[in-house]
Amino acid sequence: MRRRVMCSATELLQGRGGGAAAARMTRLLMLPSATKTIAVESCIHQRFRSTSSMSTYSELARERSKTVTSFYNQSAIDVSAEKPSVRLTPGTLLYVGKSPDGNHILSSAKYLHKELPVRIAHRIKGFRSLPFIIGCNPTILQVHELYIRAYHMLSDFPAIKDQETEARYSKLVQQLLDDHKDVVTLLAEGFRECRKHIHDEMLIRNFLDTTLTSRLGIRMLATHHLALHEENPDYVGIVCRRLSPKKIIEKWVDFARRLCEHQYGNSPRVRINGHVAARFPFIPLPLDYILPELLKNAMRATMESHLDTPYNAPDVVVTIANNDTDFVIRISDRGGGIPHSIMDKVMDYHFSTAEQSTQDPRMSNLFNTMTNSGPQSGPMHGFGFGLPTSRAYAEYLGGSLSIQSMQGIGTDVYLRLRHIDGKGESFRV
Ligand SMILES: Nc1ncnc2c1ncn2[C@@H]1O[C@H](COP(=O)(O)OP(=O)(O)OP(=O)(O)O)[C@@H](O)[C@H]1O
Ligand SMILES: [Mg+2]
Repeated sequence: MRRRVMCSATELLQGRGGGAAAARMTRLLMLPSATKTIAVESCIHQRFRSTSSMSTYSELARERSKTVTSFYNQSAIDVSAEKPSVRLTPGTLLYVGKSPDGNHILSSAKYLHKELPVRIAHRIKGFRSLPFIIGCNPTILQVHELYIRAYHMLSDFPAIKDQETEARYSKLVQQLLDDHKDVVTLLAEGFRECRKHIHDEMLIRNFLDTTLTSRLGIRMLATHHLALHEENPDYVGIVCRRLSPKKIIEKWVDFARRLCEHQYGNSPRVRINGHVAARFPFIPLPLDYILPELLKNAMRATMESHLDTPYNAPDVVVTIANNDTDFVIRISDRGGGIPHSIMDKVMDYHFSTAEQSTQDPRMSNLFNTMTNSGPQSGPMHGFGFGLPTSRAYAEYLGGSLSIQSMQGIGTDVYLRLRHIDGKGESFRV
């Protein structure tokens, strides 16, 4: 019989906040909410906040030689970028055998040691393929350089032979996860800054879909490895053996309601129905990204369509449907629906009606409150990244995200995700 590793997952995916310098502070106040705390914190750090303190001149020089400007001297990246990545099924992650001597952790580290530079090289190739004027945007360049730096730090790391090197490797992986936590926000900022130069929307959409989902995959693998060190009977690395959709929905309902109350003075009640007792093995990490985005959207629409009666806003209803193949989470709001005129745009990166909201005189007071508030709260909407990113993540996991709007009444969003131990093939991380 296969023995299971029992460890706890860390929730690192939430890192969506960020900005490069203190001057970006104002813009950060419009960041997607889940991340504002991190965003504000990271603002005060240097542009290239290093994992190891980069204090000496030689370190700085070494760092500089690895930036994008040394592009033509980086043939190792080209070589790695030609290698295929080895994607694992969650089943492989789930049923990894646990050995008392910690050998399973060593094998996991060896796999990452080989795999991460390849995946990162693929991403660097993506940045190099961007149209020149877009690739030159300082914020996008900053992310490109973060990837180049990560590539070198990971591929320079010596072969993992024993627990001591594995421990150092895990430390590096953890530090890189931290260093890259703001990447989504930086990309959102960067592409917004160069909007006027974007002539081929599809090219940017494909770049963002691939970069963001690949980042999700990398973070899942890295977090899984780190979580293998922990003991938790409900977890195997990042895989929760008995995930309760109801519980995880409730967690993000609390989060979204707090933001909503802060911004609108009240929040809709949320009722959860359907298969509320369902439990099955699943990876909570992507749900920790997608659910708050969908709940924020539903609550925002509800509150903004009831600005004159905020204490009488209709409930948001979340329905869970579980079956052998997949599970579906439907979020239904009575927030007036998505107008026909914007229906085919809401899945576009950077499409947001946030500015329109600020122009509503009934909203201006609420927004002022928000702008003057502390880092513990955040806006309900921002870059127009919530829906497109959630859909890209759902599809990466072999599922889908679809929207049905009943214009004049409300919106139903269906998040469908395939079971990792169900009938039919599972996705690969
Ligand atoms: N449930 C909903 N009801 C009505 N309109 C919605 C709903 N969900 C999304 N929208 C519309 O779709 C737009 C895009 O949504 P999306 O979540 O991608 O971006 P955002 O909420 O504006 O910003 P972000 O999610 O990045 O903080 C929203 O600005 C809003 O106009
Ligand atoms: Mg949103």
